[in-house]
Formats: sequence, C-alpha cells, structure tokens
Amino acid sequence: MDSAVRYLSEKEAIEIEEMLMGPSVGFSLDQLMEFFGLSIAAAIAEIYKSNERGRILLLCGPGSNGGNGLVAARHLHHFGYKPNVCYPKSTPQTPHTALVTQLVSLSIPFLSVEDLPLDLSNEFDIVVDAVFGYSVHGLLTSPFDDLIKRLVYLLNNGQTAGHQSTVVVSVDVPSGWHVEEGHIDGQGIKPDMLVSLIAPKLCAKKFSGSHHFLGGRFVPPSIAEKYMLHLPSYPGTSMCVQIGKPSPVEISSLQKSFTSSEFLENHLEANPIDQFRTWFNDALAAGLPQPNVMALSTAGKDGKPSSRMLLLKELDSEGFVWSTNTESRKAREISENPYGSIIFYWDNLSRQVRVEGTVENVSDEESEKHFRTRPRAGQIGALVSKQSTIICGRDVLHQEYAKLEAKFSDGLKRMLWDCRSLIPKPKHWLSYRLKPEIIEFWQGQQSRMHDRLQFRLSEIDGAREWKIVRLAP
Ligand SMILES: Cc1cc2nc3c(=O)[nH]c(=O)nc-3n(C[C@H](O)[C@H](O)[C@H](O)COP(=O)(O)O)c2cc1C
Repeated sequence: MDSAVRYLSEKEAIEIEEMLMGPSVGFSLDQLMEFFGLSIAAAIAEIYKSNERGRILLLCGPGSNGGNGLVAARHLHHFGYKPNVCYPKSTPQTPHTALVTQLVSLSIPFLSVEDLPLDLSNEFDIVVDAVFGYSVHGLLTSPFDDLIKRLVYLLNNGQTAGHQSTVVVSVDVPSGWHVEEGHIDGQGIKPDMLVSLIAPKLCAKKFSGSHHFLGGRFVPPSIAEKYMLHLPSYPGTSMCVQIGKPSPVEISSLQKSFTSSEFLENHLEANPIDQFRTWFNDALAAGLPQPNVMALSTAGKDGKPSSRMLLLKELDSEGFVWSTNTESRKAREISENPYGSIIFYWDNLSRQVRVEGTVENVSDEESEKHFRTRPRAGQIGALVSKQSTIICGRDVLHQEYAKLEAKFSDGLKRMLWDCRSLIPKPKHWLSYRLKPEIIEFWQGQQSRMHDRLQFRLSEIDGAREWKIVRLAP
C-alpha cells in the first residue's frame, strides 16, 4: 500500500545512492541512469498517449537528473513520441557525452534556450523537468532560473483557447523545490506529474498534481529493509508504479481536444455498411482492444428508453447482429417496439458511429452459428443465467454452472476436449439484427468543429437509396 511508502530525507537519499554504487551492490552511474530514464519514459507513457501528447520537451540539467532526462528522451523516441532536448550546460564527461551521441544518432533535436518559444505551450504537449535533483540547494543560476520561470508561467497561463494545456512532469524533485521542505515560497513549479526515483523524497509530500509515480525497480532487499522503504510491488513487467492517491478531478474538466484530419464527403464509401467496415478495420489496426463493443438502446410500449453494452457478433449487408437472451429486458422491449439504436465509440481515433433502425430476429440456423462462436464457458453461462431476472445471490449461479458443467463433461472423457458433449443452444438464446435506416459517422475535430456525415435511407420513385447529409456539430 502506498501509505506505507517511506519518504526519504536528503541524507538517506545520498546514502542509498552511494550504497547502490558501492562495492556491496555494484551498480555503475550509467546503469542507474538507464533504469531511471526508462522509468520516467514508462510513467509518461502510462498516462499520456503518444497520439494525443506526442510533442515533448525535456529540460536537462548538468547533473545526474539531467542524465536521467537524456535517457528518458531516447526511450520516449522509441515509444513513438517526438522528444526535443534542451540541455544548456552539457557535461563534458561520460556517461553524459555518450547519452548525447545516442540521441544525435536518432536525430533527436537539441534546442538552445534561445531557440525555445517564449510560450512553451505553443510547441509542446509535455515538458519534462529533469533539471536538478535532490542535491541542489539555493537559488537557481542562469539559464535555469529563466527556464523555471517559463515553466511556472506555463502552468499558470498555458491554457490557450482551443489547445489542450501543456503538462509538466518533474523528475524526483521539482526544480527549485527544497528536497525536504518542498515548495517553500509557494512561487515554484507545481507539476502535473512527479516521478520519484527509488523512493519519494520528503518534498513529495507537498506534491499536489494528478499523478505520482515511483521508478527504480532494482533496489536490492538489503537496502529496502535497512531503510524500511516499504516499496510497493511493480505491476507485471512495468518499470514504474503509481503511488499516492489520485487527486480529485473536476468532472467538467475531463474534456479532450480532438486533432484528426478533416473527414469530408468525398472520403465516404457509397454504402454506409462499407464505410462502417472501413472504420472498424481502422479501429482494429489502431489496436483498440474491443472495437466490437457497442451500446444498444431500446424502448418498450411505455416509451421509456434503456441502454446496455453488447458485443457485435456479425456485420452483413443487412445490418448489425448481436446475441442475447430472449427473456431479457431488451428482448421484451424489442418485441413490444421493434426499433433500436446502436452506438460505437472509438476513443483513440476520436470516432463515433450512431445507427438507428428496425430490429428483427435472425434465423435459428444463424443464431446457432453465433452461439457456437462463444467460448464453452460462455455457452454454459448462457444456459445458466435467466438474464435480467432477480436472483438471491451469486451462489445460485455457481451451483447451476457446476451442475451443467458436470452434465456436459462426459465423465472420464473430460480430459479430452473433443470428446466432451456439445452444449445445445438454449431456446432462449437468439441473435437479433438491427437493419439501419440512419447511420452517422462522427469524427472529432479541434475547437468542437467536428465532422458529422449522416446516411439516411430514403425512398425515391419506389427505390430505396442512401442519401448523405452533413450535420452541424
Ligand atoms: C462489454 C460488454 C459486452 C456485453 N455483451 C453482451 C452480449 O453480447 N449479449 C448480452 O446479452 N449481454 C451482453 N452484455 C451484458 C449487457 O450489457 C446486459 O447486462 C444484459 O444483456 C442484460 O441487459 P437487459 O436487461 O437490458 O436486457 C455485455 C456487457 C458488457 C459490459
């Protein structure tokens, strides 16, 4: 639990770093920088997606925190971001010189302080403050004092209309903060993200941004125990772990700014089902985990709408198919009023598709085919559950599941998958098709200038045709 994580004094932080590089543990400085830089890049990638906030400026100081920033720039490049580095007082020794060579070999731009725009928010989505770490005291000298002022300005004024605000990520100790006291005069940087290295320093107690991460997944137990670090476990293979409570967020501030290329009438396929297929394939290619998840809305004879998520089972020239229980609320409402509305939202692509039309049952044969595509456990689950009825506890489901699993396991043949009995499709499990009359394709754009192109099925001289109209966003 993060509440147990120890916050380190300056003296402890120095001792731990010396031990890590001492004879009993044996790390070298460039190894530590590599771990730290990778942790910083991993933490940034956890929160800020490269297609939304790809333009990153790394401000690197002359010491080891600057080295961590140089390593992070390299990893961010390989993660698909566009890093730029500002490294005004470069250190003329290894490992810093080697790190610079590595960045130059990747054509990562180095900007002088003079090259930087006055308002950093015009050109960067993220600014990484890897200027100074815990060992710097007193007033900052030129040009770092000026850089920090720009960061403070950015955080106070950087919300240009129509732009998403630029975020600041500080490494270990936000530059200008006291390592133990933090943000003494209230005038310094207030970063959105802090990446603490090894363990948070005492100043991190004053951090009030949204994301606090810990990096440095290599500390041996001897050090963790000696300093009672109580390090949290790192998830999976990750090089970073989120600590601290996420700060409360104003729901109204959760707005993203869309940046897509224009979606014009001449980009459309002539048929909306073909257009849907094109967008669906884009969603698959973009690696969205479940682009087939959709919300279906129905309303019974009382006219009160209800919505739920479903999985699209099939798309054919006639429409959108899903499978469900015929005794569920949606099925009852469809039997009373055979109209429905489906919506898909593919966040990473800033796309929405709305479909409206009539709903019909598909044939038993097709329903059987769809039932067979369910994993065996899902087939048993469909038999077990009297969907949308009130039940008195989970046990009811587990008992029924166990009974049916035993019934269809065929005793000793259980070990052999192919010998198990086929689970019959229950009568109450059917597929439905929504035949579209309206399909709207919505592409998010900057400043709410979204594209909305709608296909409407119209009858012209007895023939049914798709008409395309553009709707105001
Ligand atoms: C991602 C997701 C996919 C779902 N897929 C289906 C599905 O394909 N069929 C289904 O009957 N329920 C599915 N459900 C459950 C439904 O949302 C819903 O709880 C259930 O169908 C009962 O809805 P009703 O009472 O409105 O009829 C899914 C739920 C989620 C969150």
